[in-house]
Formats: sequence, structure tokens, C-alpha cells
Amino acid sequence: MLLRWTRGLPLSPPLLLLLGPLGPFSPGARAGPAQAEDAVELDFSTERPVHLVSPAFLSFTIDANLATDPRFLTFLGSPKLRTLARGLSPAYLRFGGTKTDFLIFDPKKESTFEERSYWQSQVNQDICKSGSIPSDVEKRLQLEWPFQEQLLLRSQYQKKFKNSTYSRSSVDMLYTFANCSGLDLIFGLNALLRTADLRWNSSNAQLLLDYCSSRSYNISWELGNEPNSFRKKAGIFIDGLQLGEDFIELRKLLGKFTVKNAKLYGPDVGQPRGKTVKMLKSFLKAGGGVIDSVTWHHYYLNGRIATKEDFLNPDVLDTFSSSVQKVFQDYWLSLLFKKLVGTKVLVANVKSPETSKLRVYLHCTNINHPRYKEGDLTLYALNLYNVTKNLQLPYHLFGKRVDKYLIKPSGPDGLLSKSVQLNGETLKMVDDQTLPTLTEKPLRPGSSLGLPAFSYGFFVIRNAKVAACI
Ligand SMILES: *[C@@H]1O[C@H](CO)[C@@H](O)[C@H](O)[C@H]1NC(C)=O
Ligand SMILES: *[C@@H]1O[C@H](CO)[C@@H](O)[C@H](O)[C@H]1NC(C)=O
Ligand SMILES: *[C@@H]1O[C@H](CO)[C@@H](O)[C@H](O)[C@H]1NC(C)=O
Ligand SMILES: *[C@@H]1O[C@H](CO)[C@@H](O)[C@H](O)[C@H]1NC(C)=O
Ligand SMILES: *[C@@H]1O[C@H](CO)[C@@H](O)[C@H](O)[C@H]1NC(C)=O
Repeated sequence: MLLRWTRGLPLSPPLLLLLGPLGPFSPGARAGPAQAEDAVELDFSTERPVHLVSPAFLSFTIDANLATDPRFLTFLGSPKLRTLARGLSPAYLRFGGTKTDFLIFDPKKESTFEERSYWQSQVNQDICKSGSIPSDVEKRLQLEWPFQEQLLLRSQYQKKFKNSTYSRSSVDMLYTFANCSGLDLIFGLNALLRTADLRWNSSNAQLLLDYCSSRSYNISWELGNEPNSFRKKAGIFIDGLQLGEDFIELRKLLGKFTVKNAKLYGPDVGQPRGKTVKMLKSFLKAGGGVIDSVTWHHYYLNGRIATKEDFLNPDVLDTFSSSVQKVFQDYWLSLLFKKLVGTKVLVANVKSPETSKLRVYLHCTNINHPRYKEGDLTLYALNLYNVTKNLQLPYHLFGKRVDKYLIKPSGPDGLLSKSVQLNGETLKMVDDQTLPTLTEKPLRPGSSLGLPAFSYGFFVIRNAKVAACI
């Protein structure tokens, strides 16, 4: 059986985020000498790209819950957070989630003491270079955050959502974070503001658009989050046709926006199955013409209850996701992906009968990386077996120089470790402004590509001279 992983978006971006800490189960486990049964032949098909992904492929969300108490938005001023975010640019920063439909813009709302101290720390400076809020304020907020988190989790579990308002200052903070980090902001508008006959009441969105227009903020927009479960969340049923009409109304408003051709994405439905598919179809029939991309949500797992075993279950990997809460924990893998993987998708096959536990993907290399050039290939692979697998390149690439970037968990916690090693070195920031160098390990030409149990590796095949990558 020859398995082909040609789906183009090869499960990667959110998966990478979730799988960050993968690596050897026990730190003592050692890769033995290459045994015949652990050798895996690869077959590449590199005549032409089968897909082209956006350079912003692998993007992330800030949960709109963060605006529930605007004081916590000041965390977005942290230079460290901005440095981490900049590492993943180009990318979209989506501000959304359930809270999207319970947030109301109040242009008259005063900013909080914390927000004011944030803006005061920025006067007469380049806004992107200035520091975060005073450290005593930050410390106090950090102490208070666990309680806030509990509060948010409780309302999520009980499915009892309250409206909150946000101010101009909150919008500024979010936009500044995105803009200073080189990210494109996608802002989710509240779709639960309705008239008596259940049409979308756009008056609040209009206020926000007017404000963003006055600041020339280049923002892309969404309207509503998982509208298929509005009944559960708010006791209102909105069908796909109505939602399509609402998007047409929003598109009209965007026509008057100062930043021309603002993008509109939707409808952000949940897992497309059953009634949700029906909703998506009727939405597209009515409003498909006014959106720039169709969006839906897909969860591998519920990150709060998922077990280690779930992450190792290949069935789970056969789904496609956007559960990105752990973005900054699994961060390093995402960073490697951004630096090494280009936009052109090629095909790699594993030539062996049972391959569901060994995932391989092939792209042209990202040639923004100074070490690599056009024609180079990046193979990345995930080994869910409990033994080392030795990947063997196709014959014609056998003698090429290969740089290996192997990710393993760091420290005694094995797979559940919070830090990771790249080629044996624990990855950490040099300082708040500096990401570490991601150093390759050149392999001897002709050697097989060893991928230890439960690990993730990137292999750049240099000087591969693949025409489709030129
Ligand atoms: C939120 O505010 C809107 C508009 O005032 C209202 O229709 C809706 O019922 C409110 N939702 C909740 C949960 O209070
Ligand atoms: C829309 O909402 C605004 C603000 O709550 C309200 O003043 C207005 O009457 C509403 N419009 C309609 C048509 O319901
Ligand atoms: C966003 O950032 C760019 C530089 O990256 C800057 O030129 C532009 O003025 C910023 N836009 C706003 C509205 O702040
Ligand atoms: C606004 O941002 C989009 C990316 O979301 C970009 O394609 C477009 O060029 C930007 N427009 C302006 C006027 O900067
Ligand atoms: C590896 O997994 C197999 C089953 O897939 C099991 O029989 C074997 O004991 C495991 N080996 C180790 C070292 O855990």
C-alpha cells in the first residue's frame, strides 16, 4: 500500500503548535543501531507543486476573552511577547472566539489605570520600541491573572456568557501589538447584536469601523464566531441565509472604510458536519460573493482535557484543527516551520505497508533563510512509533548534503516537558528582544535521516536543484 499525503495543507500549522513537546518518551530511551525494520524508504514526487500555501500559513488567535477585563490587554505591550510574535511573521493574528459575540464597542468608555500607565510609558518614543507597563503594575496583573482565568473558564464551562464593553484604548492596544509584530489583524465583530426581526444590527460595528477608519487601521474582519451554536450560547437561531445577508450588509459598510479593499472572512462555523454543513451551504449561497475566504474551525482535541495518549493517536492527527491556545508553549516548532518551510507543497510517500504513525511532508525550502537557496527541499516528519525510524531519501537525492533540525523535549518530564531542545540544545530567548539562532546539524552525505521515537524533525536537502522549487 502506498499512502499519499497530498492534501496540501498537510495537517501542519495548528498541529505543529499542539505537538511541540513531542519527543522521546523517556529521556533514557536511546536510538539503537539502524535495524532493517526501522529503515523507511521515501518516495518523492517533485515535478510540480501540488499546492501553494500562503506565507501566512500557520497563524494564531488571541482569544477575545482577553478583552473581558481590558487591564489584561496591557500584556500585549510586553517586548518579549512582541519578539516571539515577530518570529512568526508573516502571519495573521485573529482576535476572536466565543466572546466575539458578547463584546460591545463603547467609544466613550474611559481607559483603565493600567491602560493609561501603558500609554504614558510610550510618550515621545517609537511606539514599537517602547517598553511595557511599569513593572509593579505588571506584577500585580500577573498575580491577578490566575483568578481571571478561572472566571473565564467557569463561564465557558457553564455556557453563561455576559456582555462586556471595550474602549478605543483596547482597540489601539490590539492593533499596536499586531502592527509592531508584523502581523495582520483579523477582528471578529459581534454578530449577536440583532434587530427585533433577527437581522444583524450593524450600528455598533459602524461605531468601531468609524473609529478604525479615523486611525487608518488596516484590519481584516469577521462577523460572528461559530454561529451554528448561537442557540446554545444565546438562545437565538440564525440560519445560513440570514447570516449571508448580514455579511452583505457588513461588506457595504466596509465600502466606506478609509482603508480600501479591507478583507472579510467567514462564517467561522464549528466542525463542518451535520446541520453545520447545511448552514455553511446556505450561507455561501447568500453571502459567498462578498467574502474573501471561507473559514471554519476544526479541533484535533480539547486542549484542556486531552491526554498524552491522545496526542500520540494517529486517528487524532487525521483531523484538521485550529486550537491554538498553546501557541507560545509549542512555539519553537512553529518558528522552525516558519523559517524552513516554503509555500510550495510537494509530495512525499513512505514506501512501507503501515505508515499511519510516520508522517512525512515535503515542501520547497523557504529561501528567505540565508543558508538555503532556490531548488532546496525541506522534508519534515513526525514519528509516533516508539522506536527510531531511519528515513532514506530517494536514490537520486542520496548523496546530497542534509541539514537536520531535530526537536525533542528537554529535561526529565519527557513528552510533557515545557521546554524543547533543538539538536540537543535547549531553546530559549537570548533576551527579551532576541530569539536564539536555530542551528542546524549537517549530516554526512548518504547517511539516513534518523528520527527518534516520538520526535519531530526538519531536514533541509541542500543543492537538490528541484526545478519546481526554482
Ligand atoms: C448583550 O447585549 C445585546 C444588545 O444590547 C442584547 O441584545 C443581548 O441580549 C445581551 N446579551 C447578554 C448575554 O446579556
Ligand atoms: C440597533 O442598536 C442600537 C444600539 O443598541 C439601537 O439604538 C437601535 O435602535 C438598533 N436598531 C434596530 C433597527 O434595532
Ligand atoms: C503599521 O506598521 C507600519 C510599519 O510596519 C507603519 O508604516 C504603519 O504606519 C503602521 N500603521 C499604523 C496604522 O500604525
Ligand atoms: C492591508 O492588509 C492586507 C493584508 O491583510 C494587505 O494585503 C493590504 O495591502 C494592506 N493594505 C494597505 C493599504 O496597507
Ligand atoms: C513499542 O510498541 C509496541 C506496540 O506497538 C509494544 O509491543 C512494545 O513493547 C513497545 N516498546 C517499547 C520499548 O515501549
